[in-house]
Amino acid sequence: MNEKRIAIVTGAAKGIGKAICIRLVRDGYFVIAVDQDPTGEQGLIDELGKDAVACNNMNICNEQQVKDLFADTVKQYGKIDAVVNNAGIIRDNMIWNMSVDDFDAVINVNLKGTWLMCREAAMIMKVQKSGRIVNIASRAWLGNRGQSNYSASKAGVVALTRVLALELGKYNISVNAIAPGLIDTPLTQKLEKDVLQKLIEAQPSKSMGTPDDVAKAVAFLAADTTNFITGQTIYVDGGKSIGANM
Ligand SMILES: NC(=O)c1ccc[n+]([C@@H]2O[C@H](COP(=O)([O-])OP(=O)(O)OC[C@H]3O[C@@H](n4cnc5c(N)ncnc54)[C@H](O)[C@@H]3O)[C@@H](O)[C@H]2O)c1
Repeated sequence: MNEKRIAIVTGAAKGIGKAICIRLVRDGYFVIAVDQDPTGEQGLIDELGKDAVACNNMNICNEQQVKDLFADTVKQYGKIDAVVNNAGIIRDNMIWNMSVDDFDAVINVNLKGTWLMCREAAMIMKVQKSGRIVNIASRAWLGNRGQSNYSASKAGVVALTRVLALELGKYNISVNAIAPGLIDTPLTQKLEKDVLQKLIEAQPSKSMGTPDDVAKAVAFLAADTTNFITGQTIYVDGGKSIGANM
């Protein structure tokens, strides 16, 4: 049995996922860093040293790969203390221009992939009678033009989080979500400059958040010292969800 807390983090190669891995290692965890893109992973593992291991080329939508990840982790480390479901994608368009492929791809990764990860986590944590699951949703679950697929997928993540909090509460497992707003990551760096500037202007904070702003909230919810908070969605969005100036 490993002395350190063991965490699985998906979408770990860059952006918010990478910051979560760094923050959790700093807090004393051993991290299994999962991503389907192997390119960013090695740099992260070099940075984190012996406190993390990369699980490359892993797709969270592949049921067998998810089952193997959890089975291998328990075999190797004896337990799983926290699972952070962060991997996600966008394929934005107005609904009249959105293809079925774009709808399916986003629902598949953001909702089905998160559900698959939660199901395996639940089975193991239920036996352990302990665990923390943190799902990364988005402020966009409240609704965003051009994101009918993405907003629906993240609304699904919020609902999933609430249901699992009900189902798993008596096993000492908490399940919470974080809804980030505009965060400076490779995903948002792809936006047109003028579009990004308008989004920043619409923020009460008039700024973007950093990946570590999200990571700090994840660390709070993943900690074994954080009790009696479950089924909640915490906004890390510079106040945008208040909606007063939208
Ligand atoms: N950046 C933002 O402003 C923002 C705002 C709200 C919510 N979010 C959410 O935060 C999470 C991280 O966003 P980010 O901005 O860091 O994104 P990113 O694109 O920078 O990184 C996402 C990572 O997830 C990985 N990934 C994607 N699909 C995968 C799959 N099927 N299996 C395994 N790994 C997969 C990618 O390879 C990538 O490394 C996402 O769920 C996103 O929806 C981001």
